[in-house]
Amino acid sequence: MSGRSDFSVKCLDDPQALCTAAADEFVRAYTAAIEARSVFRVALAGGSTPCRLHRILTESPYREKISWDQVEFYFGDERTVHPEHADSNFRMANDTLLAELGIDDSKVHRMCAEQVDLDRAAHYYQEIIADAFCSEAGDPPPSFDLILLGMGSDGHTASLFPDTSALHEGERWIVANEVPQLGCSRMTFTYPLINAADRVVFMVSGAAKATALCAVLEGPENLSHCPSQGVAPTPGSLLYLIDQAASEQLTSETTRLCQGEN
Ligand code: 6PG
Repeated sequence: MSGRSDFSVKCLDDPQALCTAAADEFVRAYTAAIEARSVFRVALAGGSTPCRLHRILTESPYREKISWDQVEFYFGDERTVHPEHADSNFRMANDTLLAELGIDDSKVHRMCAEQVDLDRAAHYYQEIIADAFCSEAGDPPPSFDLILLGMGSDGHTASLFPDTSALHEGERWIVANEVPQLGCSRMTFTYPLINAADRVVFMVSGAAKATALCAVLEGPENLSHCPSQGVAPTPGSLLYLIDQAASEQLTSETTRLCQGEN
């Protein structure tokens, strides 16, 4: 296993169990945030895995555990498409969570990644976050109560893709990131912002992620090749929620960690 031991791993039987565990983490983070500051600021993950989590959150018993008007929704990354486009992470979250819960638009902070000037839009999104957290110029990155992340089969997370410039961003919280392997750009949280979070939870499901997950948890440190390794919240917590299919290549040492045996 890599030298990193500052994380925990829970291995669940299947995607439904994984997303139920993610819903439990959502409620746990929400409860702590409301007790501390009466507002819960969460950054949602993109891709397809979160759809199941979102459905669980809109149904009993989870729906009733949250006072939804105390939740502020942000997005960890976005594609450079219109918010109504099928590839939009905002559209996915709106269709599966926000509209269903009737979340007021003022509580939903969308990345305007469809803007022609993506870098300007990234600066604007950082200003939105700074205003929300009452951060002043030069302040360290603010701490989201919860950042949800997925992992690609290439080891990317958010839109921090292998061998892209955003991996080297040490100051800004939000950047435009050119992704040659996709032939497009994305807007994304950077490591400084992700790693300032109180809690970061990965949701990694399916056999297609097994090789990447093994590289992240057990391989040598190589951020350029395996960007998810750069997620190391300090002093916040890091939890990997994985399912059996994604865990197939992990060694027994890591799977013992899954069972809480240190
Ligand atoms: C995106 C995501 C990305 C995603 C992973 C996993 O915009 O695509 O932010 O980081 O979380 O690619 O995606 P799946 O959940 O679809 O496997």
